[in-house]
Amino acid sequence: MNIIQVKNYSEMSAKAADMLISKLHEKLNMNLGLATGGTPKGLYDRLIQDHKEHGTSYKHVTSFNLDEYVGMKPQDPNSYHYYMADALFNHIDIDVSNTHVPNGLADTPEEECRRYDEMIQNHGGIDLQILGIGQNGHIGFNEPGTSFNSPTHIVTLEESTRKANARYFNSLDEVPTQAITMGIESIMKSKEILLLISGEAKAEAMYQLLNGEITEDFPASILKKHHCVTIIADQEALAKVS
Ligand code: F6R
Repeated sequence: MNIIQVKNYSEMSAKAADMLISKLHEKLNMNLGLATGGTPKGLYDRLIQDHKEHGTSYKHVTSFNLDEYVGMKPQDPNSYHYYMADALFNHIDIDVSNTHVPNGLADTPEEECRRYDEMIQNHGGIDLQILGIGQNGHIGFNEPGTSFNSPTHIVTLEESTRKANARYFNSLDEVPTQAITMGIESIMKSKEILLLISGEAKAEAMYQLLNGEITEDFPASILKKHHCVTIIADQEALAKVS
């Protein structure tokens, strides 16, 4: 794993945007794997700014998001469909029909999971996957204990994850209990992975990732086995790493 140390969230976002944009210039029809949450928001802001100022185009890009809550309508402001439209897609020239987020309303969720993995593979796989990390080491919504061999699947969210995400809802009760997530195996098939880690709340996870063993109890630890991972981490996230 290649680790890039930066000062703060803003520098992390700028560095990540530079990397993504230079890869996009190399491959205009790249397949991007995208995440939601607080971590990539600054990256998306930079991509929008760059698109407006320099005209970087996403016309030929296809995107696949990591996850979506089960039972949530795409129009719901807390859905990841909504987040992506609001945070990125509505502000760049990506063709919306080339953007993919798991369908949390699918009649047969298991079928949706299979369809999602097949669709990614039929497009030639993900060229660059953006990841954040949960305080418990989750990636996507793959909670501790998830099999490293998991394809896209339905998960029951841990209480700690629901609490961490409750800041976007009126109350904890409103946070869904289940999600569809790309599996660890699906994520590991990406050709390249960019993991962003910022803030003191992530310092323990950062320490564990660098110093802990590879175990399903800490899902992100599998990234050590991937041949092309870059981590951009800020000073607060690196506080426990000597
Ligand atoms: C979101 C996702 C999650 C988040 C993680 C960190 O699509 O896959 O794994 O990356 O929960 O969330 P933030 O960035 O809000 O700290």
